[in-house]
Amino acid sequence: MFAGKNILTGVKPTGTPHLGNYLGAIKPAIELGNEAVAQGGKHYMFIADYHAINAEKDPAVLNQKMKEIACIYLAGGLDPSKSLFYRQSDIPEILEITTILYAYTPKGFMNKAHAYKAAVDKNRMAGKPDDDGINMGLYTYPTLMAADILAYDTDIVPVGRDQVQHVEIARDIAGAINAHYQKELLRLPDAYVDDHVAVVPGIDGRKMSKSYGNVIPLFADDKAIKKAIFSIKTDSRLPEEPKDPEGILVYEIYKSIATPAQLQEMGDGLRQGKLGYGQIKNMLLDAVLAEIGAAREKYNYYMAHFAEVEALLSEGAEKARPAAQKTLQRLKDAVFGR
Ligand code: ADP
Ligand code: TRP
Repeated sequence: MFAGKNILTGVKPTGTPHLGNYLGAIKPAIELGNEAVAQGGKHYMFIADYHAINAEKDPAVLNQKMKEIACIYLAGGLDPSKSLFYRQSDIPEILEITTILYAYTPKGFMNKAHAYKAAVDKNRMAGKPDDDGINMGLYTYPTLMAADILAYDTDIVPVGRDQVQHVEIARDIAGAINAHYQKELLRLPDAYVDDHVAVVPGIDGRKMSKSYGNVIPLFADDKAIKKAIFSIKTDSRLPEEPKDPEGILVYEIYKSIATPAQLQEMGDGLRQGKLGYGQIKNMLLDAVLAEIGAAREKYNYYMAHFAEVEALLSEGAEKARPAAQKTLQRLKDAVFGR
């Protein structure tokens, strides 16, 4: 599926990632990238820091989030000698390409874009004017994202469901430019959504999300992880009471991390009244610590030695930049008739 293809993933450095982000986005992205490279594809993985400044204005926070994201991907197994790993803000050509794309982006696309519409809806719910607090960065967000994608002749963009529309906008802009100049200046990208990735519930049963404050933290110490897991909602049924595991929150979270055999063991134990809530919480804790143990050590190492990561990111940008330069040149030649 990936042979000879360019695969590109971008991640916004907002919020400190939690277990849901890790299992639902970070780990699958790393696995997909490694698989793509193994199959002879090219994998671009970048930190979308220009996208982050629309919402976050504190430089210290931005820098901290950028570091966390960079270190998490490296700790989780992204191999910068195989994937092109870089920061968006280190590739200035992206912004020149964005400017050219603006001239071919119907304003109506932006009005309909999911990120902008969600912000308007939020304002309406709060009884505020539609555009309250919305800056042009947020409004034109899909065009910058299109430049990220089109700069690298991307074939496949692995994304969550909410981002599919943005990839379609990139495809439409590229199509309009190609049609206007009657040649294939830009490659048309396809979104790729992995249906196997489940939504991880949080400790209160809603989707695990930083905005709900119901997360299991990722790279916190054992004590903090244990505290979160032991505050997962349960009822007052006794351990020896046989229970249907479906719907038991600890079991639901376990589904996204356990092997089939481990899941079977917890399910059988609950059904037979052999496992109580304390025990299944400990099983979940063990699984979480096993999953992230090695990565956590690497993460702590990289955070403490960020100069090494900085060097990797600079190298990544140096390797990735020529392709964006080529695309920009192609566009400028066509647009200005040079
Ligand atoms: P949050 O809901 O905590 O604000 P984001 O919206 O920043 O998380 O999501 C970042 C990435 O993590 C997205 O790709 C999203 O699909 C994924 N993600 C977030 N929460 C979960 C979850 N509970 N289960 C699986 N994936 C998730
Ligand atoms: N908009 C994406 C998100 O919020 C991040 C992103 C920016 C991106 N540029 C991209 C994703 C290019 C894929 C391709 O998650």
